[in-house]
Amino acid sequence: MAKSSTLSARSAAAEVVAAVIGDQRSLTACLSQCLDKVDERDRGFCQQLCYGVLRCYPALAFLAERLLKKPFRNKDKDINALLLMGLYQLRELRTPAHAAISETVNAAKQRRKQWAGGLLNACLRNYQRQSAELEAALAEHAEARYGHADWWLKHYQQDWPENWQQICEANNQQPPMMLRVNRQRLNRQAYLDKLAEAGVDAQILQDTDDGILLSTPCDVGRLPGFFDGEASVQDGAAQKVAALLDIRPEQRILDACAAPGGKTGHMLEVEPGNTVVALDIAPQRLSQIDDNLTRLKLAAQLKAADAADTASWWDGEKFDRILIDAPCTGSGVIRRHPDIKLLRRPEDIPALARQQQQLLDNLWPLLKADGLMVYTTCSAFKQENEQQIEAFLQRHPDAEELRPATPPARSRPFGYQHLPGSDVMDGFYYACLRRR
Ligand SMILES: C[S@@+](CC[C@H](N)C(=O)[O-])C[C@H]1O[C@@H](n2cnc3c(N)ncnc32)[C@H](O)[C@@H]1O
Repeated sequence: MAKSSTLSARSAAAEVVAAVIGDQRSLTACLSQCLDKVDERDRGFCQQLCYGVLRCYPALAFLAERLLKKPFRNKDKDINALLLMGLYQLRELRTPAHAAISETVNAAKQRRKQWAGGLLNACLRNYQRQSAELEAALAEHAEARYGHADWWLKHYQQDWPENWQQICEANNQQPPMMLRVNRQRLNRQAYLDKLAEAGVDAQILQDTDDGILLSTPCDVGRLPGFFDGEASVQDGAAQKVAALLDIRPEQRILDACAAPGGKTGHMLEVEPGNTVVALDIAPQRLSQIDDNLTRLKLAAQLKAADAADTASWWDGEKFDRILIDAPCTGSGVIRRHPDIKLLRRPEDIPALARQQQQLLDNLWPLLKADGLMVYTTCSAFKQENEQQIEAFLQRHPDAEELRPATPPARSRPFGYQHLPGSDVMDGFYYACLRRR
């Protein structure tokens, strides 16, 4: 028997989707608050609904607008979310149509909005009746068809005229789950054997040193030794960064934008004895780095600081390696964070590019001669990536770009770019800068 505080998967998902669409809140933050109210057995479905609806949002909003006589009032944004969710189930999931419709109506009742039941029922049944015409109209509408607002499409088209459709399609897919084996604890084959024993189907993740690709995403609780630090969840594109840093023993390393600590952990797994200073501007995110390192049984010096304001945190000792995993639009990882499509604004791109430039310029003097700075983003926009590095090299004659023997991704005039959808990994940018 469900507890009185328990929400159905659909009702909880309606709250989350409404908060992201209506209040511009982050999907991860809303989900983590809301999932506690959902019965454990229904949490997977609740997440599937939230991610799915946000991935398909432009198409679902296009259909909803044509099915409604007038938009919902702001106080009924949960009902709007239920309509989007009903359409999502009818179009994308194998939920039988009668169940998708009746459960959507029931969720409105559970939200004490009985009045909405008839409206939701009528809209969803109208969609079923008119789906051929509605879907034909949708196919003619670029935003709805490619699942991105016009400004996103314009930027992808401008930067990647040959690849923008493939990028949009990849952004709308559910991503695979990838792991990084902690090489301090065991090797990749030994961990693959443990996964097989645990009944988790997986294979080596090509082009990575420690990566594993799971056939199907699963809860970390099913991963052997996860809580004991034997493996971490991390996309392969992010795993390539540690190798680019060319880490050696007894180095002093700055991880300038470190939270939640995915790459901090990896660089320490490579050389646990090194001194790693891990900074993040968001004090509340430092505990995530701490949790990750504690789980991996590794240690770094953690500081909450604006890395670009070096006077506020730097002790005057230079670094052998600096990683700037810069704040960015996230235009390469939309498949993992579909709310990015709704939360970002076009003006964020130049604002983020200014922050990135400041980080690059202000941290460069902290690098030792012959030291290496690696600049990365999870963006696919050139303004944050190759154009940023081209301008940096023009401003800093004592910097040269290194071209590693094994390129981490497709070679660009400056740096390397993974595009979403070009292989199994996230969209990601890398540049290696040596100080002469
Ligand atoms: C892409 S995330 C870093 C991911 C992390 N490197 C990892 O692998 O887990 C960017 C981080 O930069 C932080 N950040 C943004 N501006 C910063 C600044 N000026 N100084 C330090 N950290 C900053 C953000 O709080 C965010 O946690």
